[in-house]
Amino acid sequence: MSHDHAAPIPVVRDISSLRLEIAGLRAAGRSIGFVPTMGALHEGHISLGELARSRGAAVVYSIFVNPTQFAPHEDFGRYPRTEQADVLQLATEDVCDLVYMPDAKEMYPEGFATSLAVGGPSAGLETDFRPHFFGGVGIVVAKLLLQVLPDFAIFGEKDYQQLQVIRRLAADLDIPVEILGGPTQRESDGLAMSSRNAYLDAAQRKVAGKLNLILKDVIARIHAGDKPEHAAAFGFGELLTAGFDKVDYLEVRDAETLAPVKDTSRPMRVLAAVKVGATRLIDNMAV
Ligand code: PAJ
Repeated sequence: MSHDHAAPIPVVRDISSLRLEIAGLRAAGRSIGFVPTMGALHEGHISLGELARSRGAAVVYSIFVNPTQFAPHEDFGRYPRTEQADVLQLATEDVCDLVYMPDAKEMYPEGFATSLAVGGPSAGLETDFRPHFFGGVGIVVAKLLLQVLPDFAIFGEKDYQQLQVIRRLAADLDIPVEILGGPTQRESDGLAMSSRNAYLDAAQRKVAGKLNLILKDVIARIHAGDKPEHAAAFGFGELLTAGFDKVDYLEVRDAETLAPVKDTSRPMRVLAAVKVGATRLIDNMAV
């Protein structure tokens, strides 16, 4: 739903103002749904707020480009930062009641010294290529959940391993927040929406659109009786033929634990990470 004359959304930048605003929403009888993001919002992010709204909740978005989940050689410095446009979009799409936009000092004040080691579903896949990543996501998501203390928080299936790591983390730390997954939103050719798609030139964008088709091929092969690891090996070759410059992984895993598949009667998930030029793209689908 879009509004021509959207009311401005309150924006808070520190934890005490955040807690005051949330106390106000709670006092008005609202339940709270939370959508953490790094900004550069697109329809994928908006769909998560719509899902939260559909559950009748007041919706809090956070926008914070979290330095601890980027390695020094990664794109932290050039990650798109479009704060004003983001807040405007949240208002016109009418999916948000409060924006929380802390800066790095609010999140990691001087002397900050705590880290989290997340295990289980973080093993392999992204971790083989971004070993620091889930430690950084874990600490920031734990902090955000404890700061906002919503009834539920929604994460996209687009980042499926992240979703499973966060489910595990919230359960293991007894954080009293229900963790929900929202379906991946895609462009018309099936490319999963991502803030990083903005890095692609026209030729690269065309190649990028083939990733989702190849994941579907892998799934079709499994349904036709191929072993998951054979179907994955086939897909790996298809990706290289399609013009991707590097394939970090294409694997079929247990959909819940993300462990290698032993029992094909359990739900499975196919997950991939590839590079087009310098841009890294990830995608996944249920088998
Ligand atoms: P970010 O990449 O901004 O994504 C914010 C949320 O939007 C995540 O839950 C992500 O899975 C979801 N999302 C991204 N693209 C999507 C799409 N095409 N369809 C549906 N959902 C999509 O993921 C992060 O930020 C960070 O790691 C964060 C969890 C905020 C911690 O810093």
